[in-house]
Amino acid sequence: MKPVNIGILGLGTVGSGAVGVLRNNAAEISRRLGRDVNVFMVSTRDAGKARAACAESTLITDDPFAVVRHPEVDIVVELFGGTEIAKDLVLEAIENGKHVVTANKKLLAEYGNEIFSLAEQKNVMVQFEAAVAGGIPIIKALREGLAANNIRSIAGIINGTSNFILTEMREKGSAFADVLKQAQELGYAEADPTFDIEGHDAGHKITIMSALAFGTPVNFNACYLEGISKLDSRDIRYAEELGYRVKLLGITRKSEQGIELRVHPTLIPECRLLANVNGVMNAVRVDADMVGETLYYGAGAGALPTASAVVADIIDISRLITADSGNRVPHLAFQAGEVKAQRM
Ligand code: NDP
Ligand code: HSE
Repeated sequence: MKPVNIGILGLGTVGSGAVGVLRNNAAEISRRLGRDVNVFMVSTRDAGKARAACAESTLITDDPFAVVRHPEVDIVVELFGGTEIAKDLVLEAIENGKHVVTANKKLLAEYGNEIFSLAEQKNVMVQFEAAVAGGIPIIKALREGLAANNIRSIAGIINGTSNFILTEMREKGSAFADVLKQAQELGYAEADPTFDIEGHDAGHKITIMSALAFGTPVNFNACYLEGISKLDSRDIRYAEELGYRVKLLGITRKSEQGIELRVHPTLIPECRLLANVNGVMNAVRVDADMVGETLYYGAGAGALPTASAVVADIIDISRLITADSGNRVPHLAFQAGEVKAQRM
């Protein structure tokens, strides 16, 4: 079967990670899908870097619109970030009948209504697992795993950079500015890290989850935002003396008064699970009427965890493309060989 062709916009932290995951796990992905995923085209300003990262057959361009217009591209993977050019590219890709995968929470929190509505009109998919909580499959959990429930509330540590800063300040007494610099070097922070430390990034993510959970339009303007930039080591120390940890939480809750949507530093008793989520790790607690509380935990930022979510979306869409064209999609892609039970 012909491979699924993807066009990647941006080869930064996440874009390079996605190319790496597709290359390193190509055999596994192909087995699960029953066909190959091919990095057909890449748009970047650094052609040399792209040439070194991609296969010889990959087309490399500095014109991102060439990717969203190319007739051979099935899925556009938007990893530029920001909203200016990214919005135009995503809308044009959808107009051209391309499916879209994006990690861009800012884009979806601000323009999601327009993007999803066009995608519906054009009958294409827009997938965004990587936009919320990095490698944790929380979008899938909300959309699929909890589909039988009325969701009551969501609360989560959903900005890896802030959690990394708070953890390093508490555990090592490090200075805020030094840890932020480290988070940037590790590829955790946004291109403009103000978004991380002022709560905007967590606001984008809780806005997206809120819309999914409660079936409302995306409304980032309704989100109360307060980040961690005004905290200093004394706040963290005093909290600890009282038996609490300071965590930046994104919270959304449905009540008779409406839907709460907020991000702010919160004191959490140190015996609670969320209080013990450290470093770049994220955790999201969902309270729903049938299942009760569930908790999702994992790496919230960084090249490979985020790329894991991006590639999962690519595989998901590829399955649908494959099934829509009347082809067989493996249910459980068994490997040849015998299973031997082993007692440890
Ligand atoms: P980077 O800044 O590392 O990468 C973005 C890439 O896009 C850069 O290579 C940049 O090129 C390129 N780019 C941007 N605009 C253009 C343009 N107009 N023309 C050509 N190239 C362009 O960002 P990340 O990879 O960290 O993030 C990408 C997206 O993923 C963002 O939406 C971010 O919010 C999201 N995300 C990031 C996570 C992370 O852990 N880093 C986790 C989850 C989501 P150049 O370097 O030349 O500017
Ligand atoms: N800057 C974001 C964070 C990246 O630190 O959580 C993951 O969305």
